[in-house]
Amino acid sequence: MLDLTAIRAELHAHYDLEPSLELAESMSEIHARMDRVVPLPDWAIAAPYVKAINRLKAERDAVVLAHNYMTPQIYHGIADVVGDSLALAIEATRVKADVIVQCGVHFMAETSKILNPAKTVLMPDMEAGCSLAESIDAPGIAEMRARHPGAAVVSYVNTTAEVKAASDICCTSANAAQIVAAMEGDTVIMTPDKYLAQNVARQVPQKRIVWWDGRCIVHERFTPQDLRDFRGWHPDLKIIAHPECTPDVVAEADFAGSTAGILDWVAREKPAKAMLVTECSMASNISDAHPEVEFLGPCNMCPYMKKITLEKILWSLHTMTGAVEVDPEIAARARVAVQRMIDLSRRLAA
Ligand code: 13P
Ligand code: SF4
Repeated sequence: MLDLTAIRAELHAHYDLEPSLELAESMSEIHARMDRVVPLPDWAIAAPYVKAINRLKAERDAVVLAHNYMTPQIYHGIADVVGDSLALAIEATRVKADVIVQCGVHFMAETSKILNPAKTVLMPDMEAGCSLAESIDAPGIAEMRARHPGAAVVSYVNTTAEVKAASDICCTSANAAQIVAAMEGDTVIMTPDKYLAQNVARQVPQKRIVWWDGRCIVHERFTPQDLRDFRGWHPDLKIIAHPECTPDVVAEADFAGSTAGILDWVAREKPAKAMLVTECSMASNISDAHPEVEFLGPCNMCPYMKKITLEKILWSLHTMTGAVEVDPEIAARARVAVQRMIDLSRRLAA
């Protein structure tokens, strides 16, 4: 566990991190991307960190790959690339800089390391896990193969490198249905997200899909009644859900897609009122870009994603600690599964 008291003391000894309205105002161009959700006093607290991190990025030849669930201060302040799991994996293959700072959760950093092993991949907090990734290990995959001999194993990228290495191919929420439809054979094993599997089963009825019993602790909290309540209160509301939600929730929504799919849908449809049935930062991150849209709904945060803070990012770049390593033999096998997904996704999109 990171000793935040010691970290704070050392960072303050090296950088001027005192809140500064003057500095905040001098960085108003960055603040303008999030000023509807980050008031000036809060920006005055974040700005010194953003300045220090952006300087260190240049010194260390580092790029920041940030998932759509990062806070607005990270998403707008320091990220070089933002996106869903698929986009971040593809971007990781293209990074030329020496260092990748992965602002997301541990499996994403592992994926970057698998795809670009020569780079130093920094994870600002190693405890940023994922309930899905923690729900299955390689023996779990072997158990599923024994139960369904000959069936292809499609594992969500929200898995450890060891699980990816034991799988035939990976998928993300952006391409799961297409990947499953492209598998040979009648039966396809999907791990570890049972709700994603059940949602894909509706989209790909020609396949018999069997699943592992994993769940996302953030998305499983939304209920169909939540959605019906909000629709009752706001009849013109558009509801957009992530496919990690239960099938009953997805059935109540107007659209379901990956985090990037959700952002694209809002940009395209520009609804007057929208409820994003996913992690809370998503709406915050696009609120300034879409002033015409009123975002409503409960704020469910991912406790793992929220472990990544500006302070920990600065610390990892300052000390160059938190480098993610993957056993080369496991990485080689995991790379086959991830690369197959990327290649197949590209072919299907062409
Ligand atoms: P996507 O960004 O790929 O939709 O994934 C959501 C998620 O929960 C990542 O942990
Ligand atoms: Fe994992 Fe769910 Fe958090 Fe995504 S939102 S990292 S799936 S626990």
